[in-house]
Amino acid sequence: MKKKIFVTRRLLKENEEKLKELFEVTLNKDDKIYKPQEIIDGSKNFDGILSSVSDPISADTISKLSSSIKIIANGAVGFGNIDIKAAKEKGITVTNTPDVLTDATADIQILLLLGASRKAYEGRLAAETQNWKWSWDFLLGKQMSNKKLGILGMGRIGRAVAKRAKAFNMEIHYHNRSKLSPELEDGAIYHKDLKSLFKQSEFLSINCPATPETTKLVNKETLSYLEENTVVGNAARGDIVDDDAMIEALKSGKVFAYGLDVYNGEPKIHPEYLKLKNIFLLPHLGSATKRTRWDMAFRATKNLEDFFSGNKPQDQVN
Ligand code: DGY
Repeated sequence: MKKKIFVTRRLLKENEEKLKELFEVTLNKDDKIYKPQEIIDGSKNFDGILSSVSDPISADTISKLSSSIKIIANGAVGFGNIDIKAAKEKGITVTNTPDVLTDATADIQILLLLGASRKAYEGRLAAETQNWKWSWDFLLGKQMSNKKLGILGMGRIGRAVAKRAKAFNMEIHYHNRSKLSPELEDGAIYHKDLKSLFKQSEFLSINCPATPETTKLVNKETLSYLEENTVVGNAARGDIVDDDAMIEALKSGKVFAYGLDVYNGEPKIHPEYLKLKNIFLLPHLGSATKRTRWDMAFRATKNLEDFFSGNKPQDQVN
């Protein structure tokens, strides 16, 4: 008998077809974002859930899930939306989808840093209102080439950002829980503490996962370690940044410009960000290419398949 999978969001056609071949599935045709209670009710007596980054699955939600649910396959590399400890306690396996979105997300991170530093938002505004003329001092940005790039979180995506930044002749610095092997470091300079990294960074790329330890890691105090006029990019998670402190830093000039793709309480965006010009905003597009979205959902499907064949899924995180 096929296992029953509750799929929380609409997937690309090919992915839904593959799931239907393997499992008995309930799909979300209208792509409505379910409230926790709708996930609990909808997945009653199912064997597993295929979730997305937009589904907050808290300890409370997990405690109310049907005892038949044995796995939550999250279709994202990040799994901060799921309380993995509560899931483990209830005997629910959680998986993510690493690797397949590394390139797409690193590409977007470069776009964020460039968009912010070269005033792409203001440029677009001036162009679309036909309110501009070329002049020597028109919308002068900060050049990314030949600068020092600090990478907060040198995992797969951080390293892929470093690789791209080298094409801009940037000097790469990073902070991680531990120093990487020389092979993975690939010439990047390790900073044991965040203060030392922030002091060196002319550009700062936020790439660490969202965990209880990284919540608001970029805050009033840590932002004060930056030199004036630093450019910051965040393609990781909104929770890592204290928005009020960042807005203050953007207003004071401590941060020259901020490029971000991810938000606290998505899809809401802090209204102050929308009033600022030294900002470059995208609506969580990090993994948004067809190839990447296919691969993410196929990988989540493979995790379900492995799990129900009695094997440990390759991307188990708890
Ligand atoms: C992820 O995989 O964590 C991305 O943010 C989803 O787009």
